[in-house]
Amino acid sequence: MILVTGATGNIGSVLVRQLAEQGVPARALTRDAKRAVVPSGVDVVEGDLGQPESLRPAWEGVESLFLLQTGNEDTEAVLRSAREAGVKHVVMVSSLLAETHPDSPIGGGAIQGEQVVRDSGMSWTILRPWEFASNALWWAQAIREQGVVRAAGGDAGSPVIDPADIASVAGRVLTERTHEERIYSLTGPAEVTPRERVHSIGRVLGRDLVFEEMTVEEERERLKQFMPAEVAESMVENDSGDDQGPGIRTAVEDVTGAPPRTFEQWAADHADSFR
Ligand SMILES: NC(=O)c1ccc[n+]([C@@H]2O[C@H](COP(=O)([O-])OP(=O)(O)OC[C@H]3O[C@@H](n4cnc5c(N)ncnc54)[C@H](OP(=O)(O)O)[C@@H]3O)[C@@H](O)[C@H]2O)c1
Repeated sequence: MILVTGATGNIGSVLVRQLAEQGVPARALTRDAKRAVVPSGVDVVEGDLGQPESLRPAWEGVESLFLLQTGNEDTEAVLRSAREAGVKHVVMVSSLLAETHPDSPIGGGAIQGEQVVRDSGMSWTILRPWEFASNALWWAQAIREQGVVRAAGGDAGSPVIDPADIASVAGRVLTERTHEERIYSLTGPAEVTPRERVHSIGRVLGRDLVFEEMTVEEERERLKQFMPAEVAESMVENDSGDDQGPGIRTAVEDVTGAPPRTFEQWAADHADSFR
């Protein structure tokens, strides 16, 4: 049995569907089973990663764990609870910033999280994805209501990755025996700028969308509404375009046998979110 956390989110919802299609026994963790939409054949269990004692029913019969951290949990306590319940293998989503920007707040936090998994006493596999294509959902309301996206770093390319590809890699890693104690760095197939992403969404919708460049100062103030100032600062630096990106990595195709999906494929799959 595989326990999938974040099972209603960008990666986890695809992962539980893929496992169900392959007939692999899987259980979806959610904080609210009444709201959770999961395919038939997948067990649903309630639990909160922020309260490890609430996870006890979730561990029943589980050998492998897909762990998507939410940022507010004590990962050490979650993994202790998993190990004590008999879980043998953890696949954790980290961030490629652990490699490219180890001194940034997010990269440094990712390295710490990875160390907790390495020290957990279970076998582990770490997935280090780059920026998710699904971050474009942050623009959905502006696109629906105004057809205009305002953002900084409009011409800074980034090899964004479709969360469905992260799910496909996770599915292989969870069901094959050859991925233990390995780290996979995951990117999409090509660098795509925010301006190009907005135009891709427009093509899929059949609408002319406008991209308006925000100043760095405006972007910094916007981000500070959602995150600590030092994290906002490091994201603004990443967006400035002077920053070193990760390049294109081959791990999605190496592990799954299929090339990673393009941003425009992601946009076509999620067009309804922008209508
Ligand atoms: N976005 C990026 O560009 C990027 C890049 C690299 C790495 N990452 C990593 O990816 C993760 C976030 O991915 P995302 O933004 O795509 O998230 P997401 O999948 O949208 O996350 C939401 C999921 O987390 C679950 N969840 C939230 N709080 C929970 C809690 N306390 N207990 C149990 N489950 C909880 C939600 O389940 P319910 O609501 O059903 O309970 C939902 O399934 C982070 O770990 C981040 O570091 C993100």
